Amino acid sequence: MSKIAVVGAGRWGRNHVRTFRQLGSLAAVVEVDPAIRASLTKDYPDLPIYDKLEAILGDSTITGVSVATPAETHYELAKRLLEAGKNVLVEKPITLFSKQAEELNEIALSKKLVLMVGHVLLYHPAILKIKELIENGSLGALQYIYSNRLNLGTVRTEENSLWNFAPHDIAVINYLVGTDPIEVDAKGGMFLQPGIHDVTVTHLTYPENVIAHIHVSWLHPFKEQRLVVIGDKSMMVFEDSRPTDKLILYPKGIDWVSGNPVTRDGGFEVVEFDKEQPLTAECRHFIDSIAHNRTPRSDGANGISVLKVLEKAQEALTKNNPVT
Ligand SMILES: NC(=O)c1ccc[n+]([C@@H]2O[C@H](COP(=O)([O-])OP(=O)(O)OC[C@H]3O[C@@H](n4cnc5c(N)ncnc54)[C@H](O)[C@@H]3O)[C@@H](O)[C@H]2O)c1
Repeated sequence: MSKIAVVGAGRWGRNHVRTFRQLGSLAAVVEVDPAIRASLTKDYPDLPIYDKLEAILGDSTITGVSVATPAETHYELAKRLLEAGKNVLVEKPITLFSKQAEELNEIALSKKLVLMVGHVLLYHPAILKIKELIENGSLGALQYIYSNRLNLGTVRTEENSLWNFAPHDIAVINYLVGTDPIEVDAKGGMFLQPGIHDVTVTHLTYPENVIAHIHVSWLHPFKEQRLVVIGDKSMMVFEDSRPTDKLILYPKGIDWVSGNPVTRDGGFEVVEFDKEQPLTAECRHFIDSIAHNRTPRSDGANGISVLKVLEKAQEALTKNNPVT
């Protein structure tokens, strides 16, 4: 079994620590904050906890490293790890610039190492179920998709709501459509901090007349995570923020009868899906990809695709709301 180290045990990295531990693969943690190191030592007295990356670089028993540090550190940390021969799982966004991500991907490919990005929703059983229903024809031809990821907080000061939330939605929509968008546009508003968008709406145009939009905000009265997928045969709604009945299939649509549009209302059906935690599935996928030398679902190329959409959306936002 691969031995995994986690670099960065902050709000999200702590979940990586817990999950790799549960999977029996956690070998060490690297964290620069002494208070977090002290709290980890209390929770995991037997776990090696270091303050520097150097401590794990030369340890050949550690085959994989999960990087859950802030986005601006991903490139440098992932590069050093790949160059030291480690397989790397890096949190989203893979890096801040696609050139850097392309460089990481080239290093990984040339060294035959796994480079995986933490697009955790690509491991969500409900998303896999939607993909299965698209592929078996249950939805018919895809027409449009939208995703709302809204809540009050957590407000970031180092990145806007697009970079914070939308990587997940871009990854999911690209995955469901099966290709990258051919056109990207975005608009948004800044209310709390100059130069940092609190709310953005990104429009994506895909080949074969498929469109999508992504609405993200940390300035919204309640939590809503809703993904709506419209096909010409059926429609689906995945609402992860609901306590139950999260995934619903609506066999509805519009038929043309004697030249007139007629509503087809087939009611709805709650669709069951596996209950495994997406992060557990993601971490297991990383371990398995290393063990079997397989390309992960969210590989380096997937990270680059998502990052290029983010860059285009940011370009559009900046053009629409020039920062003075
Ligand atoms: N996949 C998801 O659903 C999801 C959710 C939240 C955050 N994230 C991503 O996870 C990453 C971390 O986010 P967060 O909210 O946990 O941030 P955070 O600031 O709470 O934690 C980052 C941690 O990294 C540590 N750190 C920074 N530089 C380091 C270094 N060189 N070596 C070791 N430790 C270092 C910091 O001390 C801190 O404890 C970001 O990329 C974020 O986008 C992903």
